[in-house]
Amino acid sequence: MKIFLDTAEVEEIRTAARWGVLDGVTTNPSLYAKVGGSYDAILQEICKITSGPVSAEVVSDDVEGMLTEGRHFAKIAPNIVVKVAMSENGLEAISRLADEGIKTNCTLIFSTNQGLLAAKAGASLVSPFVGRLDDINQDGMTVIRELAEIFSLYDIETEVLAASIRNPLHVTQAAMAGAHVVTLPFKILQQMVHHPLTDKGIEQFKKDWAATAKSAGPKGA
Ligand code: G3P
Repeated sequence: MKIFLDTAEVEEIRTAARWGVLDGVTTNPSLYAKVGGSYDAILQEICKITSGPVSAEVVSDDVEGMLTEGRHFAKIAPNIVVKVAMSENGLEAISRLADEGIKTNCTLIFSTNQGLLAAKAGASLVSPFVGRLDDINQDGMTVIRELAEIFSLYDIETEVLAASIRNPLHVTQAAMAGAHVVTLPFKILQQMVHHPLTDKGIEQFKKDWAATAKSAGPKGA
């Protein structure tokens, strides 16, 4: 399963890339609003850090507007994926961008049927929002599992990207459900690194080493 960072914070992306665990990045208008500046410049910077897919989201409601924004983003770098929200116009834009060879990520997916339609229209990625479904007492992971099964059953190339990930357990569950990709905030990536017993063990090793090296003198250090 690929791991994407769900952020527009360039320093977070640099850090995950240095750790060797970064396969791509997703951004959206809300994540961009947290950092501000020029969206194009941020996307350019991100695409220099990773050669994996980088999602850039359109905000127009009409098809022509979505196409204009999508074509613009696609010129920024070859690894840009145009993110389009699920809607009737969104499906048309996805289909037309696919005809032009531009990759798309259909976002704001909350049902298996929405994901299926996005794949039929030609989306490279479909993004069910797991956490927001859990928020309204529906099992978000069911959508991930059903789409992964359907895509496998019918040899559909579209990848299931588990989004709106709220905790490390979601990551494990998405992997077990067959998600091709999970996108997560940097904080959750950090939480995945740590375990109380690992941190405690490192401290103990350091203490034991220091005590032994001290009693052994300079040669033992
Ligand atoms: O990838 C979508 C994500 O940014 C939404 O997450 O936590 O706002 O539902 P959240």
